[in-house]
Amino acid sequence: MTKLAEGFLWGASTAPHQIEGNNLNSDFWRLEGRMPGSSYSGDACDSYHRYREDMQLSADAGLTAYRFGIEWARIQPRPDLWSNAELAHYRRMIETALELGITPVVTLQHFTLPAWFADEGGMTGPTALERWRAYIERVSTILDGVEWLITINEPNMLAIMTGLAEMVTSGKLDEWVSPTVEGERAGSLVSSLPAPDPAIGSALVVLHREAVDILHARTAAKVGWSIANQALTATPGNEQQFADVSYVWEDLYLLGSRGDDFVGVQSYTSQPVDAKGIVPHPPHPDNTLTGAAYRPDALGIALRHAWEITEGVPLLVTENGIPTASDERRIEYITGALGVLLDAVDEGLDVRGYLHWSLLDNYEWGHWEPTFGLIAVDRDTFERTPKPSLGWLGEVARTHGASLTTGVRP
Ligand code: FCB
Repeated sequence: MTKLAEGFLWGASTAPHQIEGNNLNSDFWRLEGRMPGSSYSGDACDSYHRYREDMQLSADAGLTAYRFGIEWARIQPRPDLWSNAELAHYRRMIETALELGITPVVTLQHFTLPAWFADEGGMTGPTALERWRAYIERVSTILDGVEWLITINEPNMLAIMTGLAEMVTSGKLDEWVSPTVEGERAGSLVSSLPAPDPAIGSALVVLHREAVDILHARTAAKVGWSIANQALTATPGNEQQFADVSYVWEDLYLLGSRGDDFVGVQSYTSQPVDAKGIVPHPPHPDNTLTGAAYRPDALGIALRHAWEITEGVPLLVTENGIPTASDERRIEYITGALGVLLDAVDEGLDVRGYLHWSLLDNYEWGHWEPTFGLIAVDRDTFERTPKPSLGWLGEVARTHGASLTTGVRP
């Protein structure tokens, strides 16, 4: 049987804007009004108030970790205003997780920014370094007992979103598109919208390195960031194109995590690269609700690529999941993904945990239809209904993966 690392984390992931509700001071809340055909986040899953229930459901199922984020827009709603009450709120979340025996994996920035900071130019603007430092320093005061910290979620996707937001503001694009939904469809993003701009990416690497230094000095946590791993593959004869595309889409960010305590691997699907670039997902009955190819094996490709480019930084799967209305399909997908994860561990890769995206059916950046959750949420009453996949993953956790040895490895 595959030997998993001591304390291997089994859990699920979330992001503040997607579950908390009423993130009124954030740039995304403001942007939502500018997306014809898309939905508001509104009350979301009301996890701002119901986080204990969410964590309790995870613990009851047998999961040992929970990834959640701290929302900068709540901590610093105005440039000259810090909220101690909001800091205390996130401190309570950390303490609740610890009390329930759940390891908190805490993200410090997950796509959203305070609206005023976005107006200053956000993560690539003239005040970025000073504002980011101040935020990280402030947050570091509540992180006692936190072992895992993610500075920035998916800087490569954030680079795309930054580029898109600039296009909306300057009138070059009249409606927002969500990189995780429309972006997956029929190659629309890759064909008509920019790839992550390496200049933005390089600026984000600088911010990440800065946060790593501050957090190492002030906390005992392991610090890393989490990458949207593309699991790209080269088609014959297109190895150079593959290397170039990989650099722009993810290697720049993986290189930026060399020497870190861990790197977060986030994998959903895989795409080949041909002479023209990334090949759009062809229509197929097995495609997921966002139009992406059904590829549970993508996680294995992603883990190996991250391991190779970072030169052996420990790997933590911080997101992996499938938007589907069928929970049986979800279990089948996770079985496949965990099968290739075990293969990677057998090969000698240092994998520290598996955090499924997502705990809850939540707000998918403009949309509610792609359901990724282990738990369904009634959007009017906020009642949580665990799906069979939650208990199933909890059983995998309780048996340290032993229940998987009879599972199918794709
Ligand atoms: C990732 C994001 C996460 C969620 C999933 C589906 O790109 O980090 O917030 O949207 O995709």
